[in-house]
Amino acid sequence: MATESSRDGWIQSALLDNIPDMAWLKDRDSRYLAVSTTYLEALGGTADRVIGRMTAEVWPSDIAEVYLRTDRAVLRSGRRRRYEECRRDADGQLRWYDTIKSPIRNKAGRIVGTVGISRDITERKASEEELLASRAQLRKLSEFEQRAREEERARIARELHDELGQTLTAMKLDLVWLRERLPAEPATGVARLNRLISIADQAVVDLRRIATELRPIILDELGLHCAIEWLAQSATEHGALPVQLVFDRNDCTYDPDVSTAAFRIVQEALTNVVRHSRATSARIAVRHLDGLLLIEVSDDGCGINSSAGAGDRLGLAGMRERARLLGGSVEIDSSAVQGTAVTVRLPFKTSGPRRRRT
Ligand SMILES: Nc1ncnc2c1ncn2[C@@H]1O[C@H](COP(=O)(O)OP(=O)(O)O)[C@@H](O)[C@H]1O
Ligand SMILES: [Mg+2]
Repeated sequence: MATESSRDGWIQSALLDNIPDMAWLKDRDSRYLAVSTTYLEALGGTADRVIGRMTAEVWPSDIAEVYLRTDRAVLRSGRRRRYEECRRDADGQLRWYDTIKSPIRNKAGRIVGTVGISRDITERKASEEELLASRAQLRKLSEFEQRAREEERARIARELHDELGQTLTAMKLDLVWLRERLPAEPATGVARLNRLISIADQAVVDLRRIATELRPIILDELGLHCAIEWLAQSATEHGALPVQLVFDRNDCTYDPDVSTAAFRIVQEALTNVVRHSRATSARIAVRHLDGLLLIEVSDDGCGINSSAGAGDRLGLAGMRERARLLGGSVEIDSSAVQGTAVTVRLPFKTSGPRRRRT
């Protein structure tokens, strides 16, 4: 809809009647000179309610105030402005708009008014919100599953250790008792009992290993620092990797969620060093700084090959996710020359006396 006085009125009309967005021209006093048909539809009015009228006559005062302020800012700065706004339309629906306002200059370069375009982005906003909500839900689910898995592992580990471990020990004691009372002849009976006793011994060793791999009881009983020492010792014993340990203090007890996350991250990082880095040594440094628990696991190996598929890096992704769930972060610094350093930062919450997880 163009003003009658506009010289190229019909050209403007052809444009303004077909633009799917709200579009308008205003003079320096924020008086409407032309608006698109979509503008009138959103406003629920006809051209004579808008053209030639001041902004404050067209819009309710709270909205008009914002529009006048942005008009003035554009006129004063001579610069284009872009912002998102939320407004109730003629049909009473709350809608979101992406608005751009720019100055119009005459041939002499003087600013004579403003031009604006407002795009309805309500649907885009709704999908963005839906996406954010579904991400938040996924995050909650992942947190819940991680905690449930950790608790389940702790329960199975304890049951293996306390229950099955006791049963096997009792069985072994009875076997030893039997062996002592069995007549020396026939010798095959004693030999068979000896074999059963060593099988029971091996079963106890296997069971301890399985329970520890599920969840090291040391983490719940003695805390994070001892558990990290144990990890380092295992890497040295089984991976032939010397691991230097540096703690700035070792008198802290942590919230169980923090110590579990820290332990699992260090465990994954150290496993990666042993499996992938070809390092000759590694170092774990634990520091406490401004309410943060900082752990760095570094190696002098070959660095992370950046061409390895990002989608397959579930171990690294898992570390990041664990840290993020607690408001922390994981940073990876890697080069072929200097090796790899994984730094985890976790908000450091101390809790009361260490307690066993159930
Ligand atoms: N300390 C390291 N040194 C060298 N390469 C590493 C190191 N840590 C990780 N990587 C590389 O990053 C990849 C992804 O690691 P990760 O997500 O833990 O998956 P995975 O250990 O199952 O392969 C590894 O396959 C390896 O190529
Ligand atoms: Mg890994």
